[in-house]
Order: sequence, then C-alpha cells, then structure tokens
Amino acid sequence: MASQPTPAPAANDNAARETLSITDNRTGKTYQVPIRDGTIRAMDLRQIKTDAEDFGLMTYDPAFMNTASTRSSITFIDGDKGILRYRGYPIEQLAEKSNFLETAYLILYGELPTEAQYKDWEYKILHRTFLHENIKMVMQAFRYDAHPMGMFISTVAALSTYYPESAQVGDPEVRFKQITRLIAKVPTIAAFSYRHIRGLPYVYPDNDLSYTGNFLRMLDMMTQVKYEPDPVKAHALDVLFILHADHEQNCGTNAMRAIGSSQVDPYSAMAGAAAALYGPLHGGANEEVLKMLTQIEHVKNVPAFIEKVKKGEGRLMGFGHRVYKNYDPRAKIIKRTADQVFQTTGVNPLLEIALELERIALQDDYFVSRKLYPNVDFYSGLIYQAMGFPVAFFPVLFAIPRTVGWLAQWVEMLNDADQKIARPRQIYTGYAERAYVPLYARANSHAA
Ligand code: ACO
Repeated sequence: MASQPTPAPAANDNAARETLSITDNRTGKTYQVPIRDGTIRAMDLRQIKTDAEDFGLMTYDPAFMNTASTRSSITFIDGDKGILRYRGYPIEQLAEKSNFLETAYLILYGELPTEAQYKDWEYKILHRTFLHENIKMVMQAFRYDAHPMGMFISTVAALSTYYPESAQVGDPEVRFKQITRLIAKVPTIAAFSYRHIRGLPYVYPDNDLSYTGNFLRMLDMMTQVKYEPDPVKAHALDVLFILHADHEQNCGTNAMRAIGSSQVDPYSAMAGAAAALYGPLHGGANEEVLKMLTQIEHVKNVPAFIEKVKKGEGRLMGFGHRVYKNYDPRAKIIKRTADQVFQTTGVNPLLEIALELERIALQDDYFVSRKLYPNVDFYSGLIYQAMGFPVAFFPVLFAIPRTVGWLAQWVEMLNDADQKIARPRQIYTGYAERAYVPLYARANSHAA
C-alpha cells in the first residue's frame, strides 16, 4: 500500500525491488509505491503532495491509453503476437472445435461444460427465445427505414421494463435468469429488426433448431412448410459468433462495466454497451469497410485510395487496432471462413478490392511503421454481404455474440471487491470563480 516517504530500496532486497521509487522534485521527497502485475495503483500517487492543501498527484490518461481499469480472468490478448484466448483456450481451437453456445458457457463460467451442463445450458437458452408480444409492438412502431442497430439498442433497453426483478443485480439467481434471457432473445430482436426494414412479417423462433439455425430461420423464412437452415451458413455464423464473443476491455465492454457499476439492471447497461459498439470506430467499422470498398469501386482505384489515406484524407477502415499491433487472429479465421461461404454463395466481387488493399497496405511504410494490420471487421462484412445481409445489419450481427462478453464482464465487475461506481477525475481548465453579469450589462458577444 501507499507508504510514507522512504529512502530508495537496497539493490539486493527482492521485495523492495517490486516497488517504484518516485522523487517529487517540487518537494525533494521520495516515495515508494508497490508494483503488482506490472502496474502501480493510481491511488498510491495521491499521497504525493506539495503541501497539506494539495489534492495529491493524479494520472492523466484520456482514452485509457495506459490504464488498466480492472483485473480480469476472461479474455487474454497479446496484441504484439496476435494472440487471443478465452479463459486460456486459443481462439483458433475454439473456432475449429467448439460451438457458440459452448463458448458462451466457457466465457461466462470459466470452464467448458460437461455434457449434462451443456445440455441444460442449451435447453435454457433455446427455450427463452420468445419476446413478449408488446415488445413486438414496440419494434413495429419504428419507421420502415429505421437503422436496425437503433432498433436493437432501444429494444434491449425496453426489456428492462418487462423484467423489473432484473434490478436486483446482487442476486446471482436473478442475474443468471437475465443472462439466459438476453443471450436467448438478442437473435430474436435482431431478426425482427431485419424483417422490419425489409417490410416482412416477423417470424417467431423455432426452439428445435440450433442457435444460429433458428436465427437464420427467423431472418429468411418465407412460405416454406419446413425451413431447413443452410448448414454452411449456420456454421459460418457460429464461427463468426465465437470470434466476436468477447474482446476484453474494448469501448463497448468498458461502457457495460461503467454503466453497470451504478448497479443498474443489465438490460439498461447492455443498451449502453451496444450503443458504444454502434460507432464507426468500433463495431460499426464493418459497415464502414463495405461502404469504403463500394466507393473504391474497382481494384485499379486502390493505389489512389491508399494515397488519400496516407495524406490523412480518411482512414483505411478495418485496419488498425488499439491493442493488436500484428495481424488480428480473428481476421485470419474470418478470411478462411469467407472462402467456405463463397463456395456456396459465390465470391463477393468486393473481395478483390479488399485483397488488393491488404496487399498494398501490408508493404507500405505508412501502415507497416504504424503497425496497422487488418482487424476483425475487414473481412467479416464481405461474408455478411455474401450471405445476403444488408450493410446496416452488420453491427447487429456483432452485438448478438458480444452480448455474452458484456454479461460475463458485467458479472465479473459486480463480484470484484475492488470495483466501485466508475467515476473518473478531470483536470479542470475553465474559469476560476467569476460573478454573474446581468443580460443588459453583457457588452461582448462570444462564439456560441
Ligand atoms: N487508416 C489510416 N491510418 C490509421 C488507421 C487507419 N485505419 N488507424 C490508425 N491510423 C494511424 C493514425 O492516423 C495515427 O497516425 P499518426 O501517428 O501519424 O497520427 C496512427 O495510425 C495511430 O492511430 P490512432 O488513431 O492513434 O490509434 P488508436 O489506437 O487510437 O485507434 C482505431 C485504433 C480506432 C481502431 C484506429 O486504428 C481506426 O480508426 N481504425 C479504423 C476503424 C476500424 O477499423 N475500427 C475497428 C476496430 S476493431 C473493433 O473495434 C471491433
């Protein structure tokens, strides 16, 4: 813990070496603060003051560039090596051998389920897929051209009014019920939003189908007596869902934790997380990638587009990541999955442009020196488009699996004794106190 000013540690003292010595040149005092897991606690700096009136030293870290907001045992990323693991299992193994619901269980509970646990879990999810009829009416009230992500966010928030007991966030049983409800119902909400923008009647869930098979049915079912989901598409969606299930402290997850730290119900918190995901720099990027590829129009226009990006006129969407400074491992798997999907759907004509963008960018010094590689969104949109999804629906396809990660991180946050309501500090840069000036006496105008 924070200590009184002390001399620097002796070189042969191991325990003392796990500390940081700080000399405050304003006062000449030296402090030792403990180092644990390669971090110091920001609160240990508060003891560093110029005098008794001083508030104490803070750190300034807009956008959390170098601040760990939590300890977490869910997802591990090594951004330099391009490694992603859920609960210790490499993403490549899960994508190849697991399925989405099993991976969801793993992420939430920390271990792969036994057969009996899996069967029970699958049953609980597949039998909570229906929405209250009034929720359907809420969704029907949206305009015909509403963005499906706006519908998704609002409908998830509206669910809190149907399950008022969900406010008891301290009760593990109540929490579990909401977790299964949310994982079960997000495909239904997503599918209704999809049918809505297409002007089609909503299709109710079929609980005999798999998670992704049922989802495809709710999207595509027309007049068939018995709908058989396309196994290639259902498998591809399942793999994509595994890849998107969690990604540690990203913008949306941070929103989930921050909102959840006020102890609001999970529906309200998750609506906020989904809103964060919607942004073009986050889960909305796959939509932006498709818009970009469509605008580039032809592979011959790629070099000119790259030059514009290098001049700062726009970004190469689907490239770059705050954490990965190497090829995003999810992008590699998606690229392989895309090949399988294209065998049944036919190749997306935009693929040629994407491949050329990647080829040029990966050998251009601008991108190489900044360690900008394709991220998860670069190829996912191409698969989604080949499967017939409208571009506006892409962020919704991201939000369905990320529900699992949001909820696992939310539970971890609630069970973490270190956590309190999230409330950052600021460095105030405005006026010191000044006296109110009546309207008639205000001589100078100012920019509004
Ligand atoms: N195209 C061109 N230049 C880029 C790109 C890009 N996609 N991404 C970063 N850069 C450049 C920046 O201009 C900056 O250059 P500079 O040092 O000369 O100023 C440098 O690389 C570092 O970029 P930052 O914006 O500081 O990196 P940050 O970690 O803040 O941003 C982000 C990460 C938001 C993902 C960024 O790379 C980006 O905007 N990418 C495009 C959007 C995208 O694909 N988002 C999806 C991310 S994955 C996900 O959220 C699921």
